Amino acid sequence: MDPADTRAQVDFLVQALGLRPGDRVLDLACGDGRHTLELRRRGIAAVGVDRDPRLLEEARRRAAELGLEGLWLEADLYRLGVLGPSARFTAAFQLFGPFGKQGDASWDLALLQGVAGLLEEGGRYVFDCVNRDWMLAHFDPWGRWQAGETLCQEERRLDRRRGWLFTRTRRVWPDGRCEEWEDRVRLYRPEDLGPLLRRAGLSLQGLWGDFDFRPAGPSSLRLLAVAARWTGG
Ligand SMILES: C[S@@+](CC[C@H](N)C(=O)[O-])C[C@H]1O[C@@H](n2cnc3c(N)ncnc32)[C@H](O)[C@@H]1O
Repeated sequence: MDPADTRAQVDFLVQALGLRPGDRVLDLACGDGRHTLELRRRGIAAVGVDRDPRLLEEARRRAAELGLEGLWLEADLYRLGVLGPSARFTAAFQLFGPFGKQGDASWDLALLQGVAGLLEEGGRYVFDCVNRDWMLAHFDPWGRWQAGETLCQEERRLDRRRGWLFTRTRRVWPDGRCEEWEDRVRLYRPEDLGPLLRRAGLSLQGLWGDFDFRPAGPSSLRLLAVAARWTGG
């Protein structure tokens, strides 16, 4: 990932979550910690959570290299209760993570409920998902792009009725090595998100179409939702 993209994404997070130095923030599905580390560099006490110990090890290595303190937790986002009943954070976010990729919609609800349980009153949460309206209008069954030195090819199938996108991706290295995997993601319409968040005890505060704060609309592939823990008032 281009470091300039990471910085722009963190600019978005700081503004959307209203972060100030010292705030305790959870980076859910942090991967190699690129957002956690950029937030730490800005004085925000970000904690990275991921289920993959190899990625967390890479995050630790990068933190040491940058001379930054890092705090990393190995956990499954669908079992956030393991962080303890009294763990509370000012804010949390999940970018390019597993939201929408499991079972039926009850998994997404369970994940959001787990997040709500970790936020202070009024605490904010940012997450992204794929816009169903965009995908139905622009669906292309094939994709091909260069990612660094590798060539990626994607074969896609759309379940229009149920709102699922299925992909088979093949990545090829210049020496001929290749890797193939399958994935699926549930697609969301902008109007689906408010009711889903309310059921989880969160309220939708804003919906954006990209990290530059352009409003979400039919031309947004990705939806960036900003929610707050709802206190019932
Ligand atoms: C595409 S990476 C994104 C990483 C990071 N957010 C970023 O933008 O660089 C997706 C991450 O989600 C993590 N992940 C997927 N399912 C998870 C789960 N159920 N619990 C915790 N982490 C999960 C993977 O291990 C991986 O690090």
